[in-house]
Order: sequence, then C-alpha cells, then structure tokens
Amino acid sequence: MEVHDVELTISAVAPKQYPKGSLPEVALAGRSNVGKSSLINTLINRKAYARTSSQPGKTQTLNFYNVESTVYFVDVPGYGFAKVSKTAREKFGQMIETYLSTRDRLRGVILLVDARHDPSDDDISMHEWLNYYNIPMLVVATKSDKIARGKWNQAESRIRKGLNMTPDDAYIQFSAETKQGKDAVWNWIEQQAGL
Ligand code: GTP
Ligand code: MG
Repeated sequence: MEVHDVELTISAVAPKQYPKGSLPEVALAGRSNVGKSSLINTLINRKAYARTSSQPGKTQTLNFYNVESTVYFVDVPGYGFAKVSKTAREKFGQMIETYLSTRDRLRGVILLVDARHDPSDDDISMHEWLNYYNIPMLVVATKSDKIARGKWNQAESRIRKGLNMTPDDAYIQFSAETKQGKDAVWNWIEQQAGL
C-alpha cells in the first residue's frame, strides 16, 4: 500500500478508549526492544513516527495508528521487560490480554522475534496464547540485517522449531535497516484486513 496519511488516533490503556468506527486492526506483539515500533515506521515509510528507543520499554500504551483511513496498526507494549515493577508488568499484561482476547475487529497479530536468538519462554507463551485464541498470526523474525545471509535458513528453522510452528504457519524475515520483508508483511496485512 502507498502510505501518505498516518495519524496516532489514541494511546489507550482501557477498552473505552479504543477507537470508534469499524476499521480493521492489526496488532504488533513481541518482547521489549525487538523492533515493533520500527516495523510500523518501515511499513508507513516514516523514520520515527512511532517512537522507538534502544532502551526497552519505550511503548507503554496501546497506540492506535490510523493508516490511510483503512486500517489501524496497534503498537503494543513489549513483554519481558525486567526493569518495570511486577505490579506494572501485571497491569501491562492485563491490558494487552484484554485487547487481544476481546477486540472483535482485530484481524491478526504480527508476533516479532529476534532473528538472532532462539525464541524466549515469553515468545513461546505468547505464540501459544494467540493460537489458543485462534488469532491469525504472522511470525516476523526481525533485525535480520544483523545475521549473515548464509544463516537466514538456519534462523528460520530455529525459530519455527522453538515456537512449534507447522510448515503452513506464516513466517517472514524482516529488517527495518534494509527494508527486507516489507512488501511481504504488507501483503499479509492486506490479506488479513481484507484491503
Ligand atoms: P518497546 O517499545 O520497548 O517494546 O520496543 P520495540 O519493540 O518497539 O522496539 P523499537 O522499535 O523501539 O526498537 C528497539 C531498538 O532496536 C532500536 O534501537 C531500533 O533502532 C533497533 N532496531 C529495530 N529494528 C531493527 C532492525 O531491523 N535492525 C536493526 N539493526 N536494528 C533494529
Ligand atoms: Mg515500541
């Protein structure tokens, strides 16, 4: 999709703040610092519209980005961020679970994992949880610019195995640096959102 207009409609912490209307939504989930906000910026051709940081825990609310008045991208706070208190973590967890399990116009979730590492226990739990709720999912292995081209296949097998994915489950390798995978991710979004 050619993106010209993007607007941060709302940073929500509770369901009553979710946007009104009927646009489809696609959410981005993954551990802190994995590159969710960077993926959004790549998809909308902006450098820093969605705030990114080398410090994990940057995104702390459900940020609804209205893209071309056609679809919302929902930037979700990262999990597995040790520096916030346990209470804060539980509150985050609830906010995310409430959104993902109750939002009827959620068309799919992009689960980001780091292409360089084995999926963490939190990644595995999130993957299982999304499957349990039957939420269409795309696994994106990000920061692929940080591994050699010759290791890409190996990374894919490692991640597929770690997350217990079937060969039919969607997987795309991505880099916000090189834009690798950008079109493939857009295609998946367009399909899920019926654009
Ligand atoms: P939280 O909001 O804390 O959950 O993090 P996030 O998942 O939104 O991560 P963010 O997009 O803020 O990126 C974290 C850091 O990783 C930043 O320093 C980014 O520049 C860097 N980063 C993100 N994607 C890539 C990528 O594809 N390649 C490289 N080399 N760096 C990346
Ligand atoms: Mg973020």
